Amino acid sequence: MLSKAAQEAIAEGSIQARISVRKSLDSDLRGIELLLSSAQLPASDIERHLSTFFVADNGYQIIGVGGLENCGSGIGLLRSFVVAPEFRNQGIAARMFAQVAAAARQLGISALYLLTNTAQDYFAKRGFTRMARDDAPAPIRRTSQYANEPRCGAATLMLCQLESSLTY
Ligand SMILES: CC(C)(COP(=O)(O)OP(=O)(O)OC[C@H]1O[C@@H](n2cnc3c(N)ncnc32)[C@H](O)[C@@H]1OP(=O)(O)O)[C@@H](O)C(=O)NCCC(=O)NCCS
Repeated sequence: MLSKAAQEAIAEGSIQARISVRKSLDSDLRGIELLLSSAQLPASDIERHLSTFFVADNGYQIIGVGGLENCGSGIGLLRSFVVAPEFRNQGIAARMFAQVAAAARQLGISALYLLTNTAQDYFAKRGFTRMARDDAPAPIRRTSQYANEPRCGAATLMLCQLESSLTY
């Protein structure tokens, strides 16, 4: 996933990679798609929502993605959340989540939903609670992740009420 030069630099310890978490740029699209695909996460409709996506960038390439889809009516979908395996357990996802949650609040989103097959426990620690998939509100049902994405068909639906969550 990382370029050979980046892997060698990090392995040699010759470069202290400084990791920034920032809003995504149009030029990040390919890197985001690559990272999502490598984690078997859907990458089909990123471009439409890129303005509310965040990335972790180590100066060489995108090593983390945290996406927000504004569904309207105060409802958002946290999606496309991944950190490259070499960079996990360093708090990068926590940093991305803090930025996604802040952006969501600025957009007037108070109910942040999530569909995940793999990270229920991770997001439970961030203030999400599990809920029945059939109880998803209409704006979530209309998202491509809920409606069209086969990999999300059996995913757990989770909800974080942004005002009351104390963990992000
Ligand atoms: C989930 C994920 C984004 C976390 O990224 P990260 O940068 O390693 O997370 P952080 O550094 O903020 O947090 C690390 C902590 O979360 C825990 N954790 C990581 N992944 C977890 C998971 N899937 N379930 C439960 N806990 C998890 C770690 O054990 C660690 O716990 P500790 O703080 O008690 O030691 C990353 O593991 C990942 O990309 N997974 C694959 C993609 C995925 O499942 N995405 C979610 C679906 S959209």
